[in-house]
Amino acid sequence: MVEKEVLDKLIEKAFEMKEKSYCPYSKYHVGAGLLAKSGKIYGGMNIENSSYGATICAERTAVFKAVSEGEKQFSAIVICGGLEGVEPKGSEVDYAFPCGLCRQVLREFSNPKELKIYVCSTKEKYNVYTLDELLPHSFGPEHLLG
Ligand code: THU
Repeated sequence: MVEKEVLDKLIEKAFEMKEKSYCPYSKYHVGAGLLAKSGKIYGGMNIENSSYGATICAERTAVFKAVSEGEKQFSAIVICGGLEGVEPKGSEVDYAFPCGLCRQVLREFSNPKELKIYVCSTKEKYNVYTLDELLPHSFGPEHLLG
């Protein structure tokens, strides 16, 4: 389990990054706070591109920033997101779940039964899953590296 104090920092980071989201096309702002096993926290936000396929999600921005700094293992990620000007609906769409690509990228650098994924609708309201719950029977480095 992630300590409350650390979780609060991850949540703050995710919401801070959401403010920095570059999403003029979708207007869907996403922020992520990623906890490396080293204890360091990395932030990421979605960065869109006029050539839509060149867009990168918040989660992958955070992972690639961290990996570029030498991190190889993560223990938790907090994600928040929402459409500009849209109020929470009290349903699952209030939560920005990681897309399939981001789940697979997280899989590369974590134990799927240990990595905690917190999806927030507000700073106080969140649900937590393991990566294994969101990406069951996954393919990972051990398949190739033993
Ligand atoms: N997005 C993320 O940042 N993370 C996800 O896991 C889902 C989608 C972004 C990509 C794009 O900028 C916008 O949300 C709409 O798809």
